Amino acid sequence: MIEFKYTGGIVNEEEYQKKIDEARTYVARVEQDNFGGWVNLPINYDKDEFKRIKKVAAKINEDSDYLVCIGIGGSYLGHRAIIEALGGERGHTKILYAGNSLSARALEKVIAQLGDADFSINVISKSGTTTEPAVAFRLFKKMLIEKYGEEGAAKRIYATTDATKGALHDEAIAKGYETFVVPDNIGGRYSVLTAVGLLAIAAAGINIDTLMDGAAEERAGLISDGGAAAEYAAMRNLLLEKDYNIEILANFEPQFMYFNEWWKQLFGESEGKDHKGVYPASVIDSTDLHSLGQYIQQGRRNLFETFVELREDYAGIKVAEAVDDLDGLKYLEGRELDSINKIANAATREAHIAGGVPVLEVVMPTIDERSLGALLYFFEMSCALSGFTLGVNPFDQPGVEAYKTRMFELLGKPGYNN
Ligand code: PA5
Repeated sequence: MIEFKYTGGIVNEEEYQKKIDEARTYVARVEQDNFGGWVNLPINYDKDEFKRIKKVAAKINEDSDYLVCIGIGGSYLGHRAIIEALGGERGHTKILYAGNSLSARALEKVIAQLGDADFSINVISKSGTTTEPAVAFRLFKKMLIEKYGEEGAAKRIYATTDATKGALHDEAIAKGYETFVVPDNIGGRYSVLTAVGLLAIAAAGINIDTLMDGAAEERAGLISDGGAAAEYAAMRNLLLEKDYNIEILANFEPQFMYFNEWWKQLFGESEGKDHKGVYPASVIDSTDLHSLGQYIQQGRRNLFETFVELREDYAGIKVAEAVDDLDGLKYLEGRELDSINKIANAATREAHIAGGVPVLEVVMPTIDERSLGALLYFFEMSCALSGFTLGVNPFDQPGVEAYKTRMFELLGKPGYNN
């Protein structure tokens, strides 16, 4: 189970308790919302589709050196977050990511990495019409057809999209691609535990049963009254009311970089509307203590930090022994690097608290499938409760359309004025 801690100060107990009570009232509303399908997903998912995901993942590992995962935003960040947080692929197939920008340079890099290796495509788009993945899909599909022929290519394309509509859905039906469904009642940024995330994660050799079990255990702890997720949601809202309008998710494990990106999308897209919301930012420490650390310690006092903590110690590399002490590290000789990393984390929290930064802690057991499943669910529930407490709809994203409309106008897309 994920724990939430607040180190104290700035917010008083009475107002905190009142806000927690308010956040708790939104659990039922989240569950009943038309976009609340993710709430019971860990115990109520499509078991047949889940089996098919595992079967397809095994086939990909037999016939593909690479799986090119094409998608953007909620159709991309979740699986990359989990695969990278677990230290990367464990099976034969390596995962490549495309369609998450319109950069020709980025796409050329993926093509170069692919070389002439065997590959398959996992194209994910709920709407089936998003430009970035559609452009990349055209390109990799062409490469696939040139390599394996029309029929062979169709057997290597896996499409995750709407059950009944959209360009991708229609093409998948016409060409006979194997398809998976993004349920109507689950928005992109809450969809990592559907085929959107699970196919890539399973193809990377990661145990999706255990990931789901972790999410289910977390759900069991939160479903009655929001548990620790309601506490975190309440604290974010109280701090915002006191003009702490930037939250920095701080992680001491570089492999959490994409987890931080997933978290930023989750909270940014869910809460940043109606001119409201906490701006979500992130750091990987201790790396960023040497870049953003100065600002956090002494810059404008409008930010708070949420540290992701690992309960278990990791036995790995120790500080090397040396015959002399020219570098002054003798006092650390033989110590686990992980224990030093944890001390750096504690020291950072203490220094930042002393510098006037409210510090929150989210504690997970360790880095494995179960803990990550729990962490995903914890943040999803926290975000939904936090959004309703803030007074916004945490499941829509009307602002995402603005740039698209202007881009289509400038590109001269039929039906758009330029
Ligand atoms: O969370 C969201 O809803 C968005 O980030 C979408 O996932 C993103 O815009 C991609 O949309 P689609 O899956 O329709 O291609």
